[in-house]
Amino acid sequence: MVRSVLFVCLGNICRSPTAEGVFGAMAARAGLDLRVDSAGLGSWHLGDPPYGPAIRAAAARGYDLSGQRARQVRSDDFDRFDLILGMDADNIAGLEHVRPPGNATPVRLFLDYAPETGVSEVPDPYYTGDFEKALDLVEAAARGLIKTLLS
Ligand code: 4NP
Repeated sequence: MVRSVLFVCLGNICRSPTAEGVFGAMAARAGLDLRVDSAGLGSWHLGDPPYGPAIRAAAARGYDLSGQRARQVRSDDFDRFDLILGMDADNIAGLEHVRPPGNATPVRLFLDYAPETGVSEVPDPYYTGDFEKALDLVEAAARGLIKTLLS
């Protein structure tokens, strides 16, 4: 049974904080009692709030990311979370480098839960500037994950 979910991207200031905020709000609305967090593989933004444009785009859809602070993925996250979801294939590869020996926590692409989008990776809005597209994909994957967890 999944009781905790960790979202992971590269910087932990755009995609994974968005996933944490969106999925956390939607899961709570669906009545799921889950611990949700996010982290980054890189260390550039430790302690920083999410990127301003990501906060504002999410707020326009009713999600509050402003209280989040960036942190880096740690090997003990693999023991502390039941499911770890990356935003792109590089994130999955990076996570496998942090996984402790013998650990079997599932690590998957978040968009595995939104096959209808035809997209497997969340394009990084820090570089594309397309925060609406990232939110669309994150909302779709959040819906799919909630459906899976409720089934
Ligand atoms: P994120 O985007 O992985 O979606 O948080 C990034 C933001 C900043 C950097 C990389 C990715 N950076 O290198 O500063």
